[in-house]
Amino acid sequence: MQLGFMMATKLTQFSTESLFETLKHIKIGGTTCLYTKERCAELAPIINEINQLKAEKNAVILAHSYVSPDIIHGVADHVGDSYELAKRAKESAADTIVFTAVKFMAETAKILNPDKRVLMPSQFNGCSLADSITGEQVATLRAIHPDHTFVCYINTTADVKANCDVCVTSSNVYKIIEEIPNDKIYFVPDRLMAKNVIRHLEERGIKKDIKYSDGTCYVHETYDADMIHYLKTQYDELEVVSHPECPEDVIAASDYVGSTSQMIKHVVDTDKKRYFLLTECGLSSRLQLEHPKKEFVGSCTMCKYMKSNSLIGIRDTLKSPQPHDIVNVPEDTAKKALDCINAMFSYVG
Ligand code: 13P
Ligand code: SF4
Repeated sequence: MQLGFMMATKLTQFSTESLFETLKHIKIGGTTCLYTKERCAELAPIINEINQLKAEKNAVILAHSYVSPDIIHGVADHVGDSYELAKRAKESAADTIVFTAVKFMAETAKILNPDKRVLMPSQFNGCSLADSITGEQVATLRAIHPDHTFVCYINTTADVKANCDVCVTSSNVYKIIEEIPNDKIYFVPDRLMAKNVIRHLEERGIKKDIKYSDGTCYVHETYDADMIHYLKTQYDELEVVSHPECPEDVIAASDYVGSTSQMIKHVVDTDKKRYFLLTECGLSSRLQLEHPKKEFVGSCTMCKYMKSNSLIGIRDTLKSPQPHDIVNVPEDTAKKALDCINAMFSYVG
């Protein structure tokens, strides 16, 4: 298993006992992430059916770290952040990619693999960031700001990517915006991430004119520094680890800021008594299971879009995909969006 990025080294056929042994340490996340023996008895046959179907159909399952632990540890072939999953999609030799995450990630996989079948089992596939701006709105902004390089976060629709110059993810946004050879940047759609980039560049003595649109992640925007200060009064040796979609005061009060996989790597590489992760609680439950000796404190906030993926949905999609499960991107949009995504790969490989 690589740090931060999990590859399939797990069982493909589970008994109730082996599934319970795998999942029983998860305690964060309320009832949806609690695995009793009874629940494992219901889930094990579905997991086994999915792993069988996967082999029959030469399919690969890519999963974001925020989806349910039964998906991550039962059926996923690769688990990672959005950059790693985009890379996996690019390199995949499978005929079918099942993307258990949100729509913009599945669309990115389709853009990178126009000849492959990309399936999306999620029932509720939005994202508050991706839904905050359209391609048409970006085109209007471009007409108003012709001198700016348009940079989009990967949490955007294919249409938005098709209207931008460079795509970034949370793992490379600071580096790419710094390296773009233009001092005028228009960043969409995450207002909080844009402010964090501006602050980061200022701290490094770099001045760029960075404009931004007004989207936010509805999960990350709810955090504030008061939560950090309060927990620090309750626990000694508390390492605070945040995602760059969080507000500025959270970032300023954090010990480390990074993408979900970078956050995992930081936790694994450090030896602190306790950790407070300011991101969707799938990350804490994943770490709790993979590193049971480490302690995680704080509250659990779930992304309803990510958590709308389920084992039953994956099984049904693999068995007989419905038209709404199949990801399609119009050819012209896909071509332009591919240029934008490839521009990212040209910066970070
Ligand atoms: P990562 O690329 O860091 O996994 O972020 C994706 C996301 O949607 C965070 O909310
Ligand atoms: Fe979108 Fe926020 Fe959910 Fe990530 S956590 S998919 S940014 S709504």
